[in-house]
Amino acid sequence: MVTPSDNFHADFANNPVIEEHETDILIIGGGMAACGAAFEVGRWAGDKYKVTLVDKAALDRSGAVAQGLSAINTYLGDNTPEDYVRMVANDLMGITRDDLVFDVGRHVDDSVKHFEEWGLPIWKQPGDEGKSLREGGKPVRSGKWQIMINGESYKTIVAEAAKNALGVDNIIERCFIVKLLLDEKNENRIAGAVGFSVRENKIYVFRAKVVLCVAGGAVNIFRPRSTGEGMGRTWYAVWNAGSTYSMMSQVGAEMTTMENRFVPARFKDGYGPVGAWFLLFKSKAVNAEGVDYAAKNKAQLEEYPPYGLAHVPATCLRNHQMLKELKEGKGPILMDTPTAMAKLFEGKTPKEKKQLEAEAWEDFLDMTIGQANMWAGMNIRPEETASELLPTEPYFLGSHAGACGAWVSGPEDIAPDEWQWGYNRMTTVKGLFTAGDGVGASGHKFSSGSFTEGRIAAKSMVKFLRDNQDFSPSLHLSAEELGAEIYKPFKNYLDHKDYSTDPMINPNYIRPKMMMFRLNKLMDEYVAGTSTWYVTSEKMMDQGLHLLTMLKEDAEKMAAKDLHELLRAWENYHRIWMAEIHLRHVYFRKETRYPGFYYRSDHPHLDEENWKCFVNSKYNPKTDDWEMKKIPHKDIVPKNV
Ligand code: FAD
Ligand code: ADX
Repeated sequence: MVTPSDNFHADFANNPVIEEHETDILIIGGGMAACGAAFEVGRWAGDKYKVTLVDKAALDRSGAVAQGLSAINTYLGDNTPEDYVRMVANDLMGITRDDLVFDVGRHVDDSVKHFEEWGLPIWKQPGDEGKSLREGGKPVRSGKWQIMINGESYKTIVAEAAKNALGVDNIIERCFIVKLLLDEKNENRIAGAVGFSVRENKIYVFRAKVVLCVAGGAVNIFRPRSTGEGMGRTWYAVWNAGSTYSMMSQVGAEMTTMENRFVPARFKDGYGPVGAWFLLFKSKAVNAEGVDYAAKNKAQLEEYPPYGLAHVPATCLRNHQMLKELKEGKGPILMDTPTAMAKLFEGKTPKEKKQLEAEAWEDFLDMTIGQANMWAGMNIRPEETASELLPTEPYFLGSHAGACGAWVSGPEDIAPDEWQWGYNRMTTVKGLFTAGDGVGASGHKFSSGSFTEGRIAAKSMVKFLRDNQDFSPSLHLSAEELGAEIYKPFKNYLDHKDYSTDPMINPNYIRPKMMMFRLNKLMDEYVAGTSTWYVTSEKMMDQGLHLLTMLKEDAEKMAAKDLHELLRAWENYHRIWMAEIHLRHVYFRKETRYPGFYYRSDHPHLDEENWKCFVNSKYNPKTDDWEMKKIPHKDIVPKNV
C-alpha cells in the first residue's frame, strides 16, 4: 500500500525541487565557531560580499552549547598565551600546533568580554559585582583557565549577536549539508555545497567562493554506555555526527590527529560535568574503599614524562588512573561530594550554605539538566550522598580535551613556513576554511576559543576573497542525479517496504537506526570502545576494517521512510566516514599516545622517539586512495620553563 506521503517522496526523488543560492562566503553550521565568524565577517567584508549561514538545526539552540553551559573554560585573564600553549600541549600529550593555540590564546578574552556585553551573566568576585570584565572586573574562577557563568541562555545570546550581524535573511535553518563540492575547472578548489531541508521536500545547492565548514564534532560512532534503556543519553551533543570531518576529508582536505578521541570521565548515566566539582568545589574522586586513587597511583604517571609529571596531569592520564582501579575491581568510583561540601560549609551561615547548595545544582541545571533529574530521581543530595563517576564512550572533537580535525594554515606572524600557506585557518583545499571542532591539533579552545577561531577565520576568508576576485564557481549539476543521490534512502524504502510484514526488518534494506547500531558495535568491539576497556591492536583493527568495509557496502541500502529518517541516514554516512578515518589513524600510530583514551595492546607504551609527531591523512577523491604520513612536531613556545 502506498500512502500519500510515500507518493510525495517518490515523486520528489524523481523531480526534485532544487533551490539554488549564489554566495561569496558559505558558513556551514550555526554553533560557536559559526556565530563567531558571522559576528566578525562584516567588519572586514562590509557590504561588499554576500555571506550565507546554513545550520541543520535552529541557531538559537544548536550545537554543543545548546543546553547552555555553567563555565567558560578558556579565559586567560592574567595568564599569558605562552602559558596557555604549555597547558594545552601538556593536556594533549605533546601533539599540538603551538601557532594555532597561541593565536586563540591572544584573542580569546575579547570574545568573552563581548559575551558579557551581550547579556551573559559572568560571576564576579566580591566587590566587583557591578564591574564588567572590560572595566577590569575580576571573574570567579573555577580553575586557572575557567570562569563561572549563569549560562543557561549562553547559546541564545551568542546566536542573537550572530543574527544581528548577518541579518536573518542570510541564515537558512533546518538545512543538512550532505557534501562539499569542488570546482570543475580549478584543481583542489572549493566551489560550494549541497544539502536538503529536514522540514520540507527541498534540495539546496550553494555556489560559494569560500566555505567555512564548522559543523562540530562527532557522537554515536562508538556504542554508548546507555543503550536501549537510556538511549539518546550521551555526553556529546547528539546532533553533531562528524559532518565537519567527513565532508572536508571527502574533498581531499588533509586531516590531522584523527587518532585522538575524547573520553570524558563523567557523573555516571547523567553525564554531568565534573570540572566545577573538581576545581570550584575542590572535591576528590575516590575508589570504592574511599581511597583517593589519583594520589595512590601517582607513580603510575611517571611512565609518561613530561605529561604525567605536570602539576595537572593530562586528561587522558587522569582516566588512566581511574581505569586501573576499575579493572582491579575497585569500583565504583565516587565523586566525594559530601566531604567537599562539608569543607565548604565550614564557618558559613545557613544562608551561605543554601547558596552553595544552589550552586551545586545550578552547575547541572545550566548545562546538563538530565544530571539534575538523575539526582532528583535517585534521591541524591550532593551534601549527603556521593555520586558515581565513569569514563564514557569515545567522542571526536577538536575544541575540548580532544584534538582531531583538519590540518590548517597557521597565523602569518607565528607559524613556521611549512605550516602556513597564506590564509589563517584555511585547509589544504583552496577556499575551504574551518574553526572550532574542525581545526586539528589545537584543543582546549572550548566555547570561547571556538567562537574566537570563527572570528579569526572570518577575517582571513575575506582576505582570500579579495585576493581571488576573479574566481567564479563552476559546477555542473544535474537535478536528476542530485535528487536520486540525496533521496536514495526513500527509494530504497519504497521499492521494498512491502516485502516484509515488519517495516523495520527487511532483507533488501536497513533502517538508519539499525545501521548506527551496527557501526557502534564494530567500533566498540574492535576499535577500542568501552567493552574492551578502550583496548585495540592491529589484528583487531584488521577485523574492524573488514567489518567496516562490509558495512559500507550495505550502507548503500539504507532506507528512510520520512525526512527525519533521511537526516538520520545522512548522519550515518558522515559517521561511517569518520569511523574509517579514526581507524586508519589509530592503525598508523604504532604506540599508545593517549593512555586512558585508548590503548594499543601491541604497542602499549608511549614512544617519544618515534612518534612525537603529527599523524596526517589525506583521501584522494579522484583515485579513492588514502595517504597516511608523519609530520614532524615543532615546539614554537618553549615547554620546559
Ligand atoms: P558546535 O557549537 O557544536 O556547532 C556545530 C554546528 O554545526 C551546530 O549548529 C550544528 O547544528 C551544525 N551542524 C552539524 N552538522 C551539520 C550539517 N551536516 N549541516 C549543517 N549544519 C550542521 N565549553 C566551555 O567553554 N565551557 C563548558 O562548560 C563546556 N562544556 C561542554 C559540555 C559539553 C557536553 C560539550 C559537548 C562541549 C562543552 N564545551 C564547553 C565546549 C563547546 O561547547 C565547544 O567547544 C563548541 O561548541 C565548539 O564549537 P563549534 O562551532 O566547533 O561546534
Ligand atoms: S565540561 O565541558 O563539561 O565543562 P569538564 O567539567 O570536565 O567539562 O571540565 C571543565 C574544565 O575543567 C575543563 O577545562 C577541564 O579541562 C577542567 N577539568 C576537569 N576536571 C579536571 C581535573 N580533575 N583537574 C584539572 N582540570 C580539570
